[in-house]
Amino acid sequence: MSKPRRLEGKVAIITGAASGIGEAAAKLFVENGAFVVVADIQEELGLKVVASIAGPDVDRAIYKYCDVTVEKQVEETVAFAIEKYGTLDIMFSNAGIMSSWESILDMDMEEGFDRTMAVNLRGPALCIKHAARAMVKRQVRGSIICTASIASVLGGLCPIAYNTSKHGLVGLVRSAASELGKHGIRVNCVSPYIVATPQSISWMSSAMGINNASGSEVELLASSAANMKGVALKAKHVAEAALFLASDESSVYISGHNLVVDGGFTVVDNSIAMLMETQIKQRCDYVS
Ligand SMILES: NC(=O)c1ccc[n+]([C@@H]2O[C@H](COP(=O)([O-])OP(=O)(O)OC[C@H]3O[C@@H](n4cnc5c(N)ncnc54)[C@H](O)[C@@H]3O)[C@@H](O)[C@H]2O)c1
Repeated sequence: MSKPRRLEGKVAIITGAASGIGEAAAKLFVENGAFVVVADIQEELGLKVVASIAGPDVDRAIYKYCDVTVEKQVEETVAFAIEKYGTLDIMFSNAGIMSSWESILDMDMEEGFDRTMAVNLRGPALCIKHAARAMVKRQVRGSIICTASIASVLGGLCPIAYNTSKHGLVGLVRSAASELGKHGIRVNCVSPYIVATPQSISWMSSAMGINNASGSEVELLASSAANMKGVALKAKHVAEAALFLASDESSVYISGHNLVVDGGFTVVDNSIAMLMETQIKQRCDYVS
């Protein structure tokens, strides 16, 4: 028996959909019956994604160049989705960049801080603004989802500008959820642990000082620090969380959440238990 399609007939924009988590979400949303605008600055990759997911129904997905930092382009992307597919039900604001490791003492305010804020915080603010305007105007009880990160919950995991942008994103989502509830529009975050994507691979390669780490090396490193053992988090798993937030399964009352997909990483701390284990072992070794 075929699985039920959880987004049948819904229209979605996914930013950053030419690669990684956005690409996985575009595939999953189309498989679940949605029409998807693949919005990204990487045109060649975006077109490839569309070609790979559209299948026999070529109209299911379409590429649109959109730099999320440019308000006019975000506004045009929303208008494009409505012109092409008639409405807008889902905005998945997923595009994001990693900043480089810098000390707060030497932070490059333009290239490091402002650029990261522009993509990771101004971008989602523009996506929420223009998607919500269209939804309110058409009385669509839509779903807006933003990709934050485990760096939205804890300090020190990632470079400071990135960490700050993702914390800010949760504030943006909560504030937007507060205003848009009266229109029946839900706004939520999905916050992944490390997933091997071009972004994390290039970031971890430079952090480890190696040329080109492989996806499996990144997964190995991620797994060794993870709470959930025996499985690596994949882009598809994050896309599934976004699908839940986009679908009617979460439609009644789930808004303002930060759905952390981290196998418990940000809510457990084994350091004291491990310290005690080491102390006990040392004592036993001493006694014997
Ligand atoms: N990969 C991870 O480990 C991880 C963990 C937590 C959160 N995230 C977040 O997930 C989201 C997706 O990242 P990913 O890991 O799939 O990386 P990715 O590099 O594979 O994909 C990011 C996409 O965003 C696009 N993009 C970048 N700047 C843009 C802009 N100005 N306008 C439009 N598109 C732009 C890129 O072209 C790319 O296609 C990001 O917000 C990232 O911060 C990733």
